Amino acid sequence: MAKMGTSSRVAAAIVVVLGFVLSLAVVCNGGKTSSFVRKVEKTVDMPLDSDVFKVPPGYNAPQQVHITQGDQLGKALIVSWVTVEEPGSNTVLYWSAYSKKQKSEGKVTTYKFYNYTSGYIHHTTIRNLKFNTKYYYVVGIGHTERQFWFITPPEVGPDVPYTFGLIGDLGQSFDSNKTLTHYELNPQKGQAVLFVGDLSYADNYPNHDNVRWDTWGRFTERSVAYQPWIWTAGNHEIDFAPELGETKPFKPYTHRYHVPYKASGSTAPFWYSVKRASAYIIVLSSYSAYGKYTPQYKWLEQELPKVNRSETPWLIVLMHSPWYNSYNYHYMEGETMRVMYEPWFVKYKVDVVFAGHVHAYERSERISNVAYNIVNGICIPVKDQSAPVYITIGDGGNLEGLATNMTEPQPAYSAYREASFGHATFDIKNRTHAYYGWHRNQDGYAVTVDSMWFFNRYYHPVDDSTSAQ
Ligand SMILES: [Fe+2]
Repeated sequence: MAKMGTSSRVAAAIVVVLGFVLSLAVVCNGGKTSSFVRKVEKTVDMPLDSDVFKVPPGYNAPQQVHITQGDQLGKALIVSWVTVEEPGSNTVLYWSAYSKKQKSEGKVTTYKFYNYTSGYIHHTTIRNLKFNTKYYYVVGIGHTERQFWFITPPEVGPDVPYTFGLIGDLGQSFDSNKTLTHYELNPQKGQAVLFVGDLSYADNYPNHDNVRWDTWGRFTERSVAYQPWIWTAGNHEIDFAPELGETKPFKPYTHRYHVPYKASGSTAPFWYSVKRASAYIIVLSSYSAYGKYTPQYKWLEQELPKVNRSETPWLIVLMHSPWYNSYNYHYMEGETMRVMYEPWFVKYKVDVVFAGHVHAYERSERISNVAYNIVNGICIPVKDQSAPVYITIGDGGNLEGLATNMTEPQPAYSAYREASFGHATFDIKNRTHAYYGWHRNQDGYAVTVDSMWFFNRYYHPVDDSTSAQ
């Protein structure tokens, strides 16, 4: 073997030192902050006479039709709609190519909010549906009927492929409309939406003008009447307005959007779980008590051990306020909930956590920050292959505009961040692999700006990081 000369020894030393400096740089600085430049336009709500808000024609025609999963397994569906002139029928007529027409009867409710009185809000649960079947359904029986359809999910099982859409903080601006259109035209074809909170932003209007809840219902109908959206409550659902005499939190939201919380043993509609295909989805509430001994805490403590990963390998958590967020907006708002629940997420190997609230996009590495105990000073997130990836997808496009201001330097845990409006899809292939892609509204429908192959934490817990290391 040839001996190294002095000059080559020096060169080797330089390479070693350089390598060390470079590796330090990787540790100290985070992933990628997008350099994408967008047109600076103000985000404004669509006016009330926009075509997307059009009231369907006909006397007492059902409007704001929306569906969501109605049980824990996906064999039931909640159909909701609003009639304006009179209560009308609560009946949903439904059928598939293989079954005769059947009827399901629901209930009607109304509410008042300050000087606003709602229309007649109908909720009807259809049960005992067959898996993986296209059904047609009709609402508005008696006067003006309207027909829609949906496809039930496949039976729950470990290798069942399924594609979820991800939308958050949608609102009803011109940008919101672009986001929804991009989701609808995405060739990845989401089969159900995981919605991470902040629906209508009606509370940004004087007196929380609930007419904007109605317009939002009509705007989103073109998607949510045909595929279920799984709801998470955000801060814009609270509608707590003591100055208006409105002191019951979540009043418009809970009257308009029902979820199957009782099916998962929850005692309130703000935290619950559903199984869908090969995924187990846990919805949490950033705006309900979550400290020790609270109903949400006790429920989650019982809930996590129930998740059978050999039945549903993919464990997904939805919440509104992110735990990891390197923007200068809503900074640390999720911190208290993180302190309470993060050790459980690591213990139970949650695959991914989706949150909204910050009006931008960010994806984290698999990291945890559970070592801190007040006195030891260990308070920096570390890479952790048992931890979830945290994704902030509050970029639906509401009137409050984009969060563009980021903390610098980008923290090591942050893999990718960009202040653009968009949506994502989480495409489960089998028990080991899922393809995740984020789409920005300025691009063509098929373009994914940020993507990642997720390796399942239970069946394939190897490093799926997208960073160089
Ligand atoms: Fe929010």
